[in-house]
Amino acid sequence: MIKGIFPGSFDPFTLGHLDIARRSARVVDKLYVAVLINASKRSAFTMDERINMIRAALDGESNIEVISFDGLLVDCAKQYGASVIIRSLRDSSDYLSERQMETINKRLCPDLEIVYLNSAPELMHISSSAVRELASYGCSIEGFVPEINRKIIIERLCKNG
Ligand code: COA
Repeated sequence: MIKGIFPGSFDPFTLGHLDIARRSARVVDKLYVAVLINASKRSAFTMDERINMIRAALDGESNIEVISFDGLLVDCAKQYGASVIIRSLRDSSDYLSERQMETINKRLCPDLEIVYLNSAPELMHISSSAVRELASYGCSIEGFVPEINRKIIIERLCKNG
């Protein structure tokens, strides 16, 4: 049984992330979507909010489980028995930063494999920070985030209520 882990800050989870999670779940037997603390970023949503939004978006995906982890990604993978880390690539700048992270993770845990999925072309422009910025000005985030999460994101982030 191949277990994979799709880690990220997911602040918030976007349609780009949803696409990668669903596609990854077809290539591994069990997928953990892992919400990790990124110490260098201040998050807009609490861990519980992020997890609940991801669970709502992935409702019905029987081989996906949403988890949280505060520590190293390689330790999270070990704890859950995952042998594959899934990351997504939107463009060449993602590639460069991912290579650096891969090198570090491989040094920490040589047995782990990192598998990259290219973003769907129509979702390449999406990022969590763009969602946060648009929502904070009350702009539409339709087509950026799962429909089921749209209202809560606007309510939480829109400066004009
Ligand atoms: N669709 C939409 N957005 C995407 C995306 C996709 N397919 N792929 C990447 N992104 C965006 C995210 O929205 C996010 O955008 P933002 O910066 O504008 O908010 C950005 O890419 C990076 O997000 P993410 O993939 O979640 O990475 P991250 O840098 O926030 O977190 C961790 C990466 C959590 C996996 C990493 O920090 C980690 O492993 N932390 C644990 C500590 C550790 O093990 N450190 C050692 C390894 S260096």
